[in-house]
Amino acid sequence: MLIRILKGTGIALLSIGALIAGVYGYMYYQVQSRINQKYVVQAPVLNIRYDSAQLAYGERLAIVKGCRDCHGDDMGGKVFVDDPGLGLLIGKNLTKGKGGLPNDYSTEDWVLALKHGIRRDGKTLLFMPSYEFTHLSEEDMSAIIAYAQSLQPVDRELPDHNLKPLQLHTSLDKLGDCG
Ligand code: HEC
Repeated sequence: MLIRILKGTGIALLSIGALIAGVYGYMYYQVQSRINQKYVVQAPVLNIRYDSAQLAYGERLAIVKGCRDCHGDDMGGKVFVDDPGLGLLIGKNLTKGKGGLPNDYSTEDWVLALKHGIRRDGKTLLFMPSYEFTHLSEEDMSAIIAYAQSLQPVDRELPDHNLKPLQLHTSLDKLGDCG
């Protein structure tokens, strides 16, 4: 009798395990293929002016639109999430200094990021909230880009994102400590 119960439980556990592995595998595949998906988009050509009124307006927008909250007050990049459970999220260095954007990062590349949420290689920017900026008028987008392109280079090399959203074991360990 006991053996039959144990056997039954074992089979049930094994099936649940197999099911979880299957679902996880499927989700992993879905996420990976989205991360690696490339998009081909023609960025609209903006007319960028670099006069002082335009740069000042661009700076104001970079503040109110939150660019500097994630990319730092000098736009030289910063860690904007550092949480033991969640991991590290890095706002990229957007200047031309060390650790920043490549020298040939063009105005079209800026528009791809802001309007379409993709890198110049066509891959999705995963944490950059481009959906909030896609509707900026061409005038506003041009001003932000003019401001950003005119910044002093900042040498700041930051680590890559390091996300650990599945740190379940840590939470369980903590629960264990409590009880
Ligand atoms: C919530 C945080 C956040 C805000 C707000 C934000 N960014 Fe970003 N941005 C990121 C992160 C993180 C990346 C790095 C790519 C990724 O992981 O998505 C990024 C990447 C970029 C890139 C692409 C660099 C590349 O590698 O091609 C540009 C350009 C950029 N941001 C400009 C801006 C501008 C301009 C604003 C404001 C209008 C802004 N960002 C607001 C988080 C943010």
